[in-house]
This record gives sequence, C-alpha cells and structure tokens, in this order.
Amino acid sequence: MHVLTSLRVALVFFATAGISAAQGCVGDEDCSLNGICCRSSGKCKCDPGWQSDDCGMLDLLPAARWSGYNYTNFTLSDFYSTKGNSSWGGNIIQDRQDKGLFHLIIDQFPRGCGLSGWRPFSTVIRAESRTGPAGPYHYAQELLGTFRHNAKVIWSPADQMYLMYTIGIETETPDTCKSYKWANNVSVSSAPDARGPWAPSDRLLDGTNPTPWPLWSEDNPTSEIALGVEDNFLYSADSFGGPYKLIKSMPWNTSDYSDHWTEDPFLWRDKRGNWHILCHWMIDIAERHEKYPRVGGHLFSRSLAGKWSFKLQAVYNTTVHFTDGGRTDYYRRERPRLYFSDDGNLTPLYLINGVQEFNSSASYTLVQPIGSRAKL
Ligand SMILES: *[C@@H]1O[C@H](CO)[C@@H](O)[C@H](O)[C@H]1NC(C)=O
Ligand SMILES: *[C@@H]1O[C@H](CO)[C@@H](O)[C@H](O)[C@H]1NC(C)=O
Ligand SMILES: *[C@@H]1O[C@H](CO)[C@@H](O)[C@H](O)[C@H]1NC(C)=O
Ligand SMILES: *[C@@H]1O[C@H](CO)[C@@H](O)[C@H](O)[C@H]1NC(C)=O
Ligand SMILES: *[C@@H]1O[C@H](CO)[C@@H](O)[C@H](O)[C@H]1NC(C)=O
Ligand SMILES: *[C@@H]1O[C@H](CO)[C@@H](O)[C@H](O)[C@H]1NC(C)=O
Ligand SMILES: *[C@@H]1O[C@H](CO)[C@@H](O)[C@H](O)[C@H]1NC(C)=O
Repeated sequence: MHVLTSLRVALVFFATAGISAAQGCVGDEDCSLNGICCRSSGKCKCDPGWQSDDCGMLDLLPAARWSGYNYTNFTLSDFYSTKGNSSWGGNIIQDRQDKGLFHLIIDQFPRGCGLSGWRPFSTVIRAESRTGPAGPYHYAQELLGTFRHNAKVIWSPADQMYLMYTIGIETETPDTCKSYKWANNVSVSSAPDARGPWAPSDRLLDGTNPTPWPLWSEDNPTSEIALGVEDNFLYSADSFGGPYKLIKSMPWNTSDYSDHWTEDPFLWRDKRGNWHILCHWMIDIAERHEKYPRVGGHLFSRSLAGKWSFKLQAVYNTTVHFTDGGRTDYYRRERPRLYFSDDGNLTPLYLINGVQEFNSSASYTLVQPIGSRAKL
C-alpha cells in the first residue's frame, strides 16, 4: 500500500472509531468484556489492567531491564553456537507453600542454538525468583528434556496437581545446531509441585499451542477442563487425561495470511465468568510480510462454546518502555501469557512474552508489569 493510501485508511479508521466512541457503549461487549458499560454516560469503566475507550488495550507499565529471564549473553563450553540460553516465553507460578518464591516455567533452547533450533532443541526448564513475579529469574532445573515445547502450566484444584500441557516427542539432542520439521502433538503431564516429579507426558491430540483452563469453581468443583489450541479451536474433557472433544471453532477465516490469522492462544475465564483469549495476531505478516508492530490480539465471549468476538485491533504492540527511560521496539513479541492476582479478581498483573530483538537471532523471556497493582 502507498503511504498516502495507508494514511487515508488510517484517517477513515480514526474517524469511524471517533463516531463509535461518541455513540458510546451499549453493552459490556462494547467494553471487550474487560469492564462494565455505564449506560447513563455511555462510557466503559475498565477493570484494572485494561484501558482505552473499549477496554481493549492492556495497561502496560515500563519493565525493568534484565528482569524476566534473559541469558542470551551466557555460554558454556559444550554450546554449539552463541545464542546463549535463549528462551521463548513462560508461565509464572507463585509457590503454594513459600509465597515469596516464584517459579518461571519456560521453553529454553540449550547449546546456544537459539530460536531457529527450537525443534528439536526446546526443553522445559524451571527458574526461580525471590524478588517478585517480574524476576529476574535464575535457572533452577530442567523439567523435561528435548523435545518439549509450548509448556503451559496450570494448577488444577480438582486434581490438586499442576498440569503441564506441551507439544513434543522424546528425542536425542543432536550434536550440532539443526532444525527439524515434525507434526506436533499436544501432551499433558502432571505433578504435585512445580519442581516435580512430573509424570511421563501423555499424548492427547494432534495440534499445537495448547492452552488449558480448569472449569472448577467453588460452586462447581468439577474436574472438567477446557483446552484451546492453534487457530482458537476449543476442546473440553471430563478430566485432564481426556478424551478431548471439539466444542468450538471460530466462524471466521483462520487461514494463514487472512486478517484473523493468529497463534499462541492464552485462554482464561475472568471473575465474571466471561472467557478471553490473548494471542499473537499476525496481521503485519499478512499485510507486509513483517513480524511487527501489531502483535497482541484479544478475543472474548460470554460462554466457551458461544459467540466469540475478535475486533482486529492491537491489545499491545512490539514497543516496550523500560524503567531506565529507554525503549526497545522488538522484532518479534509472541507467546503472550498473563499472571493474575490471587485475590479472586483475576486482575492481570504481568504480561509474559517470548521476544527477539532486531538483528539478533537470540531470544528471551520478557515480563512486563500491567496496571498500578503490579510491583516491579
Ligand atoms: C537481553 O540481553 C541482551 C544481551 O544478550 C541485551 O542486549 C538486552 O538489552 C537484554 N534485554 C533486556 C530487556 O534486558
Ligand atoms: C550478561 O549481562 C548482565 C547485565 O549486564 C551481566 O550482569 C552478566 O554478568 C552478563 N553475563 C555474562 C555471562 O556476560
Ligand atoms: C543455562 O542453561 C543450562 C542448562 O541448559 C544451565 O545449566 C545453566 O545454569 C543456565 N545458565 C544460566 C545463566 O541461566
Ligand atoms: C505426532 O503424532 C504422530 C502420529 O499421529 C506421529 O507420527 C508424530 O511423530 C508425532 N510427532 C511428535 C512431534 O510428537
Ligand atoms: C481465507 O483467507 C485466505 C488468505 O487471505 C484466502 O486465500 C482464502 O481465500 C480465504 N478463504 C475464504 C473462504 O474466504
Ligand atoms: C506501539 O503503540 C504505541 C501507542 O500505544 C505507539 O506510541 C508506538 O509507536 C507503537 N509502536 C510501534 C513500533 O509502532
Ligand atoms: C539492523 O541492521 C541493519 C543492517 O545492518 C541496519 O540497517 C538496521 O538499522 C538495524 N536495525 C536495528 C533496529 O538496529
């Protein structure tokens, strides 16, 4: 698109957005189910952590440099290349007994091979922080060896266990950096503690990018579990071991290069019982064959198998501001996951992403605070 044309498109877009803002909200859907529509003022009252007229943007605060898990400058004598302990996103878990201890369970690529060697080099490791959920985290242990990727860990109250959904297959670590192509399968493992012991991974279904959410609540202490995968297909099972049955596929065009093209879903149910998915929205690849800057997508629905909305706007982009006053515009920012408050309100407190800088083939795991309730 020519610059002038895109300028015109942008102007039309802002004009349209202006009209709808002036008309105001009618229902909570107009507030992205991230807030309440105040009918008298026609304005959204956003829940903590969300902002903008339609509560469709995360309220991200400056991040601290060297927080999260960034060991891209690290090397060992048995590394095959120079991309350090590259990693690609993770899950923050507050220790259930020791509340001052936080675990970050992440996908790490050993031997310095970096992101491009993710298949077969990816392993699942655990790192620890005693300085809060933002880290910095320090390597503690390998949980699952090559090839395990996409680890998504959640506490299951019904099972009194952590469930870890991954993709992968047990394989030897090659003796040089290389990249394999495999069909991916989703598996699940369980453990009473983040440190393990983790049960052997059981294969559940073909697919990738699993994102589980237990349906358990105090009113309904069920062992049922919801599981999202690539393209926002949603499955459910009576218990985590399966079988999983497909309960929802999105009505829009999820094909590669379509404007609804997404990956890396992160599924959750909020304090009101509404459902949300944060995902990597690949609109810039579809439009310009580039991986930046509009990378965060948000989908929402009042029920799991009901009518989902996807407004095709960025919830966050590749720009991150830092507490030292600096700013990094990332080349890639993917694998979104949220860490929530544990007070029953599920306020999003931190956004976790896998990131890659421009002109670098190393990758790391960034943790950025959300809203005024997060601590650095
Ligand atoms: C991550 O590490 C690299 C060095 O490998 C450094 O250049 C970069 O600034 C670090 N990023 C953050 C956010 O700490
Ligand atoms: C990586 O960079 C950090 C921050 O500058 C520094 O503290 C650390 O020592 C460096 N590690 C290596 C192995 O150079
Ligand atoms: C890097 O990962 C290896 C395991 O692959 C681990 O032994 C090492 O301690 C890690 N280094 C850092 C600085 O996290
Ligand atoms: C996935 O499952 C198929 C069988 O459906 C198998 O052939 C393939 O090796 C598996 N791949 C991985 C990475 O687990
Ligand atoms: C879906 O989107 C793709 C990519 O833009 C396009 O090639 C395909 O024709 C679309 N399919 C339908 C049914 O619209
Ligand atoms: C990301 O969005 C902010 C506004 O929210 C804007 O200031 C910034 O320039 C955007 N980043 C990029 C790389 O376009
Ligand atoms: C990346 O490298 C290219 C060529 O060396 C340079 O033109 C460009 O400015 C660099 N980009 C960034 C963000 O550093």
